[in-house]
Amino acid sequence: MNCATCARPGRLWRSGPGLLAACLLPVLALATQAPGATSPVRHRAGPPPGHTGGFGEPTCHACHWDNAADAGGGAIAVHDFPPAWSPGRTYTFDVVLRHAGVGRTGFQAAARFAYGSDAGRDAGRFRAGAGAAVVSGLNAHVTYVQHAEEGTLPQWPDSARWRITWTAPDRGGRIVLHIAANAANNDDSPLGDFVYTATRTTEPAEKIAVRESSRPPTGRPAPSTRAPGRPRHRL
Ligand code: HEC
Repeated sequence: MNCATCARPGRLWRSGPGLLAACLLPVLALATQAPGATSPVRHRAGPPPGHTGGFGEPTCHACHWDNAADAGGGAIAVHDFPPAWSPGRTYTFDVVLRHAGVGRTGFQAAARFAYGSDAGRDAGRFRAGAGAAVVSGLNAHVTYVQHAEEGTLPQWPDSARWRITWTAPDRGGRIVLHIAANAANNDDSPLGDFVYTATRTTEPAEKIAVRESSRPPTGRPAPSTRAPGRPRHRL
């Protein structure tokens, strides 16, 4: 139904209760739709933000819980994610999800500072390649890169790939990338799917350079000045 009048409330109210009911009916119908019925918000077109598994977030398994997580015989691989980052530099990497017989796929990832006062905040900026999108989280400090609907059909019988471009921040310490992905069976429901997770870290390149140059000339590692400790924040 074309309800263009709804966009002009003044005219609507003057037009009487008949027109008002006609405009409200479709809205009420959507609000009372049975769960599982076709919804205007399609999860397949993009998962809800905040489901990477990092910093206490749940994963896709919160809804796609039919099979145990990380137990379907597949895996997430991240190709060309840099082990070290330089300020403002742009890197391109691929997230690849492998699972035998996957019918539809999706993922979500976030890159955040691991430690310190910025822990859990966005580190750098994403640019999504084909089949992916960049979205803001409910919390303004986090941005996610995730599948778009056209990126849910796997390119190969047993795997799917999304290309992501990431520009490192201007400063900061260790950065952690959390990824959760869903190897789904293409039945348009959250059932029968396999969820996988992965984590990658990248260190500031200058820190690594300092560490290298402080090695003794014999090539033997320099004695550690810091006792190995537990991370101060949950990743
Ligand atoms: C709050 C619940 C919820 C969460 C969390 C969730 N999904 Fe879904 N997802 C659904 C529902 C419901 C459907 C089925 C219908 C639809 O598309 O809305 C679905 C469908 C899908 C499908 C298509 C499944 C099929 O077999 O056809 C994919 C792919 C998918 N989700 C990926 C993800 C990924 C990736 C995540 C995590 C990053 C995720 N979802 C997190 C609820 C969720």
